Amino acid sequence: MQQFERADVEEIFEVADRMRPFTGRERITRVLEGAILSNMFFEPSTRTRVSFGSAFNLLGGNVRETTGIESSSIVKGESMHDFARVLSGYSDVIVIRHPESGSADEFASASQVPVINGGDGANEHPSQALLDLYTIRKELESQDKSVDDFRIALIGDLANGRAVHSLLKLLTLFKRVTVQLASPEGLDAPPDLIEQLRVTGASVSEFHDLREGIQHVDILYVTRVQEERFPTQDEANYYRGLFRLNQEIYSQYCESNTVIMHPLPRDSRAQSQELDEDLDSNPNLAIFRQTQNGVLIRMALFALIFDVVNDVERYAKPLRWRTPRNRQSS
Ligand code: NCD
Repeated sequence: MQQFERADVEEIFEVADRMRPFTGRERITRVLEGAILSNMFFEPSTRTRVSFGSAFNLLGGNVRETTGIESSSIVKGESMHDFARVLSGYSDVIVIRHPESGSADEFASASQVPVINGGDGANEHPSQALLDLYTIRKELESQDKSVDDFRIALIGDLANGRAVHSLLKLLTLFKRVTVQLASPEGLDAPPDLIEQLRVTGASVSEFHDLREGIQHVDILYVTRVQEERFPTQDEANYYRGLFRLNQEIYSQYCESNTVIMHPLPRDSRAQSQELDEDLDSNPNLAIFRQTQNGVLIRMALFALIFDVVNDVERYAKPLRWRTPRNRQSS
């Protein structure tokens, strides 16, 4: 996330806005015809993997995909260096998700084509933070508020959540941000990230009580306990279900227009339920708007990487098919 300045973020958001006719299936474009994305996912993923792939397809490019470390040559002892050199010979851009912190960086240093970090262990998930902030901006704008003066509560496993880590770094680029960090004791946000935020002028406070942490904010950003990062399942089980947001708690402690976000997947198993399904009828629940915005942001990233932002329209074609999704707009 440190690679981005405020102007870069603004540019990505402007390009993302221009991608809307394509995600809405009003038009198609073939601007990346012939280009190949290697989508390398060595950890579980649904939305990140599929939305990167869809974004590339929507720009007219082709996607090659590997999922699961067991089906790749990494299990034969191949180094990140060799793996990156080989793959970059087959691809024009690579997205990688890998369980080790720092792996995307290591991979990128040996790659001959651009690499996007799709999540490296507990470290970072920058494209998620970009789509989260884009969503935050849209939601705030609809309430006549601004990203330069807003209050957000981040809730849950702030120690291991890579989406949280990238979002905290991204928030340093904005002014007058109030950040409330609400986590069970032991799952606190990394102190260096809190310090970085304070240095840039944000007001940061920490809570170990859910009800206290969620008051007086515009945005709630809920996360699941990242059970795959704990040394033992028992330890993960201890934290599961400690922080649960439901409609009753929301009604009692939140402002009536507080927006609810989550990077997803939410853990809907009985022992977890950090975001109760009884919130699904709450109009402030933005989780599915958030996932839709992911495709726009990822299209924008590809359009910028390939330097085709101004050609997207030129390579647009008429759409020859209709589904319930685009019928209304035709
Ligand atoms: C997140 C991730 O993988 O870090 N999911 C996602 O990409 N949307 C968050 C999570 O798994 O909890």
